[in-house]
Amino acid sequence: MNIVILNGSPKSSNSITVQSMHYLALKNKTCNFEYLNIIDDVKKGEKDILKIADKVSECDGVIWIFPVYHMLIPAHMKAFIEKINEYNLVKKFSNKYCATYSTSIHYYDHTAHDYMEGICNDFDMKYLGSLSHDMNDLIKAECQSELEFFFANFIESIKTDELTLKRFKKTSKYNYNYQNNECSKKIKTTKRTVIVTDSEKGSNIDKMIVKYSSMIDGPVKVVNINESTFSNYCIGCCNCSTHNECIYNNTDDYRKTLDFILDNSDIIVYACEIKDRYFSSRIKLFFDRSFCYTHIPVFKGRQIAYLVAGPVSELGALNEIMKSYSSNETNLAGIVSDECQDDNILNNQIETLVNKSINFAEQDYIKTPMFLSVCGSKLFSDAIKSTLGTIFLADYNYYKVNGLIKNESITGKLKNMTFRYMMNKKAFQSKVKKNMYKHMISKHKKILELEVTNNE
Ligand SMILES: Cc1cc2nc3c(=O)[nH]c(=O)nc-3n(C[C@H](O)[C@H](O)[C@H](O)COP(=O)(O)O)c2cc1C
Repeated sequence: MNIVILNGSPKSSNSITVQSMHYLALKNKTCNFEYLNIIDDVKKGEKDILKIADKVSECDGVIWIFPVYHMLIPAHMKAFIEKINEYNLVKKFSNKYCATYSTSIHYYDHTAHDYMEGICNDFDMKYLGSLSHDMNDLIKAECQSELEFFFANFIESIKTDELTLKRFKKTSKYNYNYQNNECSKKIKTTKRTVIVTDSEKGSNIDKMIVKYSSMIDGPVKVVNINESTFSNYCIGCCNCSTHNECIYNNTDDYRKTLDFILDNSDIIVYACEIKDRYFSSRIKLFFDRSFCYTHIPVFKGRQIAYLVAGPVSELGALNEIMKSYSSNETNLAGIVSDECQDDNILNNQIETLVNKSINFAEQDYIKTPMFLSVCGSKLFSDAIKSTLGTIFLADYNYYKVNGLIKNESITGKLKNMTFRYMMNKKAFQSKVKKNMYKHMISKHKKILELEVTNNE
């Protein structure tokens, strides 16, 4: 059986992810594994992409493998997918059995796999499932077994011509030419807005930016990343781990662009068009390269807003990703898209978004985070407290100084130990259970009593 491994790691044969495929190749000698490193071909032209597509069309099954980068696949792999569409090569992928495999630290690995499943559905591939391993899982016996099980099922499904179902519908396409109206009332503010975009002149996004900016009587800057010259993809070398210095710092203008945005913003507006099931690979490149600041929340304290052209409400994974970009002590002011296809509604929605962003910025309002952000912060904190923090020294220092590495206090530990000890005693347990409701709101009641006393 001929299996094509489409490798999305920029490290090619030195990739952690690809080692798992080598492991499978050693365990499955009757299968022929062909490794195609996307990073080598993506910067080349149509001919080389066609060669890859031909290999895909001739094989029995494809495994898309990738490291999770910024909650998705790496930017160059996204660019590869865009080229498949651009060069009309989707047919070469259609009806091919496929699966996805990644390594990461499990931070938003689910959005990356959902995105890839959506792409496989769009390409009419027969999607057989995913496996997401931690970057060190291959050294664990139980994960080796799981990997073998995953591959055995993959092969069996191909042999038995398994019927697959599509989980994601195709997204809506529409031709809507937005006409922005004159701004009736500008909002005066000293808060600084930076709009980050890759928009083209005359596009809906371009006009949404004009509308947004025209509402503000205060500092607004538009950073169109197409005017910056950086084009190097992150190569995962982790040179940034010790002092947040990227190997490209002196060779391209990425860091200058990012630092300009950070130095000049209280509000950041990302104004982007949907390309397949995410924004463009150029925008993805912008996000991937921000890894130069590793896991340090450099956007802290800012308001984040999105102006989107395209069917954003149909893209669950993208919505989760957008919400995450606005966690880490930043605040999501809102998301406005042109999918309403109505000038009046869109003009009103943009006006509301401007109002909210400025109001929140002036109040320094950061909303209490929910599940995804709470878990994300705990995951980073745990990782940096252990092995990740031995390499990522800049992260460790930042997390330590800012109290983000949390250890339980000795008094807290003692209090909990004592309570647990008492809870094991039947009499105490039944007393607590009897008064559970009262106990749970006892401290809240004290706040209300205090409020009553203050009002008297
Ligand atoms: C630019 C960059 C972004 C990353 N983003 C994420 C992420 O969002 N979630 C995560 O769990 N790991 C993330 N990682 C960690 C990689 O996914 C992980 O190290 C992976 O195992 C590398 O695989 P490879 O050696 O095959 O490239 C990121 C690493 C880099 C360099």
